[in-house]
Amino acid sequence: MNAQQIRQAYLDFFATRGHTVIPRALLVPQNDPTTLFTGSGMQPLIPFLLGEAHPSGNRLVDSQTCLRAQDIEEVGDNRHTTFFEMLGNWSLGDYFKNEQIDWMFEFLVDVVGLDINKLYVTCFIGDPKFSIPKDEQAAVNWQQLFASKGVSSGIAEIGSEADGYQRGMQAGERIFYYDGSKNWWNRGKTGPETTPVGDPCGPDSEMFYDFGTPHDPKWGEFCHPNCDCGRFMEIGNNVFMAYRKVSDDTFEALDKPNIDHGSGLERIAAAAINSPDAFRISLLWPVIEKIEKLSGKGYDSNAGPMRVIADHLRAATFLAVDGIVPSNKEQGYVMRRLMRRAMVKAFDLGIEQNFIEDVVPVIADLYAADYPEVAANRSKVVEILAKEEKAFRQTLRKGLQEFNKLTGQTLTGDVVFKLYDTYGFPTELTYEEAFKHDVAVADDCQSEFTRLMAEQKARSQTASKGVFKGGLGGQTLQHKKYHTATHLMYQALRDVLGDHVIQRGSNITEERLRFDFSHPEKVTAEQLAQVEAIVNEQIAKDLKVSFQEYPTKVAIEEKGALGQFGDRYGETVKVYQMIADGANKPFSFEICGGPHVDHSLQLYEDNKRFKILKEESSSAGIRRIKAILG
Ligand code: ALA
Repeated sequence: MNAQQIRQAYLDFFATRGHTVIPRALLVPQNDPTTLFTGSGMQPLIPFLLGEAHPSGNRLVDSQTCLRAQDIEEVGDNRHTTFFEMLGNWSLGDYFKNEQIDWMFEFLVDVVGLDINKLYVTCFIGDPKFSIPKDEQAAVNWQQLFASKGVSSGIAEIGSEADGYQRGMQAGERIFYYDGSKNWWNRGKTGPETTPVGDPCGPDSEMFYDFGTPHDPKWGEFCHPNCDCGRFMEIGNNVFMAYRKVSDDTFEALDKPNIDHGSGLERIAAAAINSPDAFRISLLWPVIEKIEKLSGKGYDSNAGPMRVIADHLRAATFLAVDGIVPSNKEQGYVMRRLMRRAMVKAFDLGIEQNFIEDVVPVIADLYAADYPEVAANRSKVVEILAKEEKAFRQTLRKGLQEFNKLTGQTLTGDVVFKLYDTYGFPTELTYEEAFKHDVAVADDCQSEFTRLMAEQKARSQTASKGVFKGGLGGQTLQHKKYHTATHLMYQALRDVLGDHVIQRGSNITEERLRFDFSHPEKVTAEQLAQVEAIVNEQIAKDLKVSFQEYPTKVAIEEKGALGQFGDRYGETVKVYQMIADGANKPFSFEICGGPHVDHSLQLYEDNKRFKILKEESSSAGIRRIKAILG
């Protein structure tokens, strides 16, 4: 099976087992200001894993496009990518561990046809401090499944990375217990001790594929599935979300535990062709071949840069499909960085002409059949990315001119860093240029550069940790208030400016709301005052906020609900209404996942009022408003 077939087979497999296939969420999370990108399949489902009813039922399956910008520097080896698809299935308080393990085994072995002898699994070793038992049920379940195929599988404890793993795997062993740093999930892998209070969490069981490559002792004395030497690749994770942490030292069992499963599509596809190089799969290899053709160079001796180009342009393509354009801020900045890195690598490979228009259509074609939005936006995407390419070539030339200014001077670490950071020049290119231009290199140039890079990394890690830590920030009261205010302002804008006003973006923090919408000209001060007055008037009526589920068609066509994603919604949607006591028609009626306050006067707590702070252009034909409760 190739990657596209594996994706389809997975969706079909779980659909025939009672799951509703839900559409992927956009790469940019809606109404979650705490994280820049959708980085796992479970992220858009957090409210439902916390107990809210999902409109599509309690068995869900999807393939979620994910972006992990924090992995940008890792791309170039045989398996890291920034963009990937996560195959996910969920039980929201329905089936549990036994079904999940049985089905994943059946899917991997009988449907995809992976060589069973190359499959290994891991389970949770238990944590006596919190009275959380060893997951023997999972281990035994796996063991029976392997036995049903005539494969014996010894169970062993590998233990803890912190203790430096005292043993590796031994002949006949296939099922391994690890501690919470490897087999515990709570929106990340930190173990029971550091799971935040309030989080749903639980032990997990991961599946690994053995490529049989020799162990590299650089990664530790012993080899085992969680060793990083590259022999084993994790292909999927089953989370048995059975607990909620209720205080620093107690977990309570959930009445209805959930299953959260995620598998890397690209990784299963690599295992299916027994290739430790994930770039050989059907969703990436045609892109590599195109790059080979354009550069006239072979993959085998240029794998690193070619992988970067293929991965980064694929990520940029999907970002453009999802409405992002390159810019100097937030998601747009990450997109710009991805593109620049790809272009510099292409330059290194000798591709000096524009090449976006050659490569991006190859990527789009690989997804067009399965993601209609890729087909629909194909020419627009090529146009956006080609425009950025043109602009960057000019920047690149400017960067090269910087070298001319350096003639007769000495190249220092801060210049290397600036060229890297501002122009996206890899250090090799800088040193090469220095050599070409006869510029001397300071003795401490490389160490100074390394120091500046480490500083920057520390800064950005802190920033991204902060972003992730707030992962559920979307649930705080302050966020709910701004979310509700956004609905009210959207309707007020339509009342004042007209029905051409369509939401184009929304970003909420604890401090403010920000809302982008279509409107051809500047909104006048008078109009803004009207909008502000309408919102305050509605808040003061103490509108009741509630939601109801409808079939999508009914919500949009019959009930007239506002919604910006058209046919991208699933079969049913949640519609929030905000209605005054005794009124026969809600003031606001909008498709939305929530969460919101229960009634609008909550927005006035602490004597706050709704205030528009700023109106400005966001991009052509799009205006942006920032407003606060202050
Ligand atoms: N949410 C789990 C993971 O990403 C499945 O590993």
